Amino acid sequence: MKTIDELLAAGVDGKRVFVRADLNVPLADGRITDDGRIRAVLPTVKALAEAGAKVVVASHLGRPKGAPDPAFSLLPAAERLGELLDAPVAFAQDTVGPAAHDAVNGLQPGQVAVIENLRFNAGETSKDDTERGEFADQLAALADVYVGDGFGAVHRKHASVFDLPARLPHYAGHLIATEVGVLKKLTEDVERPYVVALGGSKVSDKLAVIDELLDKADRLLIGGGMAFTFLKAQGYEIGASLVQEDQLAAVNEYVERAAKNGVELVVPVDVVVAAGFPDLKTKAPSDPATVAADAIPGDRMGLDIGPETGALYASKLADAATVFWNGPMGVFEHPDYAEGTRAVAQGLLDSRAFTVVGGGDSAAAVRILGFDENAFGHISTGGGASLEYLEGKTLPGLAALED
Ligand code: 3PG
Repeated sequence: MKTIDELLAAGVDGKRVFVRADLNVPLADGRITDDGRIRAVLPTVKALAEAGAKVVVASHLGRPKGAPDPAFSLLPAAERLGELLDAPVAFAQDTVGPAAHDAVNGLQPGQVAVIENLRFNAGETSKDDTERGEFADQLAALADVYVGDGFGAVHRKHASVFDLPARLPHYAGHLIATEVGVLKKLTEDVERPYVVALGGSKVSDKLAVIDELLDKADRLLIGGGMAFTFLKAQGYEIGASLVQEDQLAAVNEYVERAAKNGVELVVPVDVVVAAGFPDLKTKAPSDPATVAADAIPGDRMGLDIGPETGALYASKLADAATVFWNGPMGVFEHPDYAEGTRAVAQGLLDSRAFTVVGGGDSAAAVRILGFDENAFGHISTGGGASLEYLEGKTLPGLAALED
C-alpha cells in the first residue's frame, strides 16, 4: 500500500487531491457532539494543503436514501474542519454537480473544499457495479489523485471507497496507515495476555469477531445489551432486558468453545436495572437499582453492568499486555448507566497494556465521559471497520489501496 508520504515526496503542488474521509460524526439538533473523526483526518488534510495541493474532502454522513436530505448535510462538518484548520474551507452544495466543480475550480494551491454528502447520490452505495462505477467516474473528474483516509468506511464497498481509487493514482492517508498499523499488531503479533472487552447492544453484530477471538484472545469480557443474551443462555431470568433469542444457540456454542480453548469468557455478576429505557435527551433522573445477574426482576431491564462487575473487569484488565475494547458496557449517554463504561475505560488506563479502543460508540464514550484520549494507546475511528479487520475479512477500501 503506497502511503501519502510517497505522494508528498513526489510533489502535489497545484494537484487536485481527493481525500475520502469519514466525517460521519454524531449530531444533535444540527450540532456536532463529538468531532473526533474530523480531528483524525487533519494530519492528512494539513500535510496536503501545506504541500500546495488543492484538497477536495469528501465523506458520507448518516444513511440518507440516495437523494439530498438537509438533515444529513455535511455543512456542519465542513465548518468544523475550517475551525480546526484555522483556514477557510469552501463548501459545495452538491457532490458531482456544478457546485462541486465550481468549488474545486475555485481552489488555489493549499486551499480546501468539502463536497456535500456522498450518499446524496444513489451511486455511492449501489450494489450495482455499473451504477457505482458511473458515480465513481463523476467523482474522478474532480481530482488528479486519490487519498483514502476514511478508515471508518473501509469495510463498505462503496463508489468513493472502492471504485474511485481504481480510477486515479491512489495512496493511503496518515489515518488509514496508523489504523492498519495498530490492527496488524493485534492480529499478527499480539503481546499476551490479550484481553478483549466487548459491549454494545446486539450479539449478532459481534458474532463473527467473537468467533475469531476465541482462537486469538486470552480473555473476553462481555458487557452492554448483548450481555443479557449471554446471561439468558446460562439459564438466568433477564426480565425485560434486551435479548436476541435467535442467538442463544450460537452463544452456547461459544461458551463451550471458550472452555475448550482455554479462553476465559467473563459475563456480568451484577447489573444496573430500571423500569424502562431512560430519556437520553433530557437525561432526567431515572430509577436505577443494582441487582445480582441471576436475580433480575421480571419487570426490570438491565441497562449497565453493576459495580461488582466493573471491579471484576478492571481486575481482568490489570495484568493485560494488550487490550482491545469495542462497545459501551451500558447506556453511558445517561449518567445513571455510565459507570460500567467508565470502569472499563479506567481499567484500560490503569493497566500497563497497549490499549486500543475500537470504534464509534466506545470512542465517543471515552471523550464524552471526560477521559484524556491521549492516555489510550490508540482510539480507532472505525467501529465496524476495526471489527471486520479483526474478523480477518478483506476490507474493500483497503484492498482498493493495495496495488
Ligand atoms: C461508521 O459510522 O461506522 C462509519 O462511518 C460507516 O458508516 P455506515 O455504517 O453508515 O456505513
